[in-house]
Amino acid sequence: MGTYGIGGRTAPDRPLNTEAVTALKLGFSLGMRFVDTAEMYGAGHSEELVGQAVRGSHSEMFVATKVSPEHFDYEGVLRAADRSLKRLGIKCIDLYQLHWPSSSIPIRETMRAMERLQSEGKIRHVGVSNFSVEQIVEAQKALSKGQVVSNQVEYNLISRGIERDLLGYCERSKITVIAYTPLGRGRFSEP
Ligand SMILES: NC(=O)c1ccc[n+]([C@@H]2O[C@H](COP(=O)([O-])OP(=O)(O)OC[C@H]3O[C@@H](n4cnc5c(N)ncnc54)[C@H](OP(=O)(O)O)[C@@H]3O)[C@@H](O)[C@H]2O)c1
Repeated sequence: MGTYGIGGRTAPDRPLNTEAVTALKLGFSLGMRFVDTAEMYGAGHSEELVGQAVRGSHSEMFVATKVSPEHFDYEGVLRAADRSLKRLGIKCIDLYQLHWPSSSIPIRETMRAMERLQSEGKIRHVGVSNFSVEQIVEAQKALSKGQVVSNQVEYNLISRGIERDLLGYCERSKITVIAYTPLGRGRFSEP
């Protein structure tokens, strides 16, 4: 269940809070177990609403969120994770993803912080998003142990670029591909 737009896109939007939490809970009651958010969505408000929806039932859910590239320095990652944990109201993020690659901060520094979060039990799995094959290889090399478990990328009936090389690479490397914009933001239903 994607939550971009729940609680605002780039800034908090609160009038539909109750509907947003009700919609998330309905999804959970219908069997959805994977919820994806990001510190960027609604400038943190999406995480707050996901937190309200999973309160008391996190053990049955899989909560994924993302850290933004402006926080990819070592201390920045640690602080961003603490803020996300607080907003989500959980003790451990199931999947913590690098939202997109950074051109300025070395991946080694970012991954050092991700490993520390993992050793402290604040995150379970390390994932990435919008990474190419080469960028995943670099990210994997930057980890001293463990694995990059997922790459979240655009994939739908129109946007099929990942079928060129990324999808095959991820399959062979046992990296889960999480498709975003799966409904093409409604473009498939246009006449
Ligand atoms: N990692 C990343 O960089 C990244 C980037 C984008 C998305 N994501 C994740 O992927 C999730 C889903 O992606 P998404 O929200 O971009 O795309 P999506 O799921 O393909 O589309 C969602 C939006 O499309 C519209 N829509 C869907 N079906 C429709 C239909 N039958 N008729 C008319 N409109 C329809 C709705 O717009 P209205 O709300 O206007 O009704 C809906 O909110 C996000 O919530 C987020 O968690 C990640």
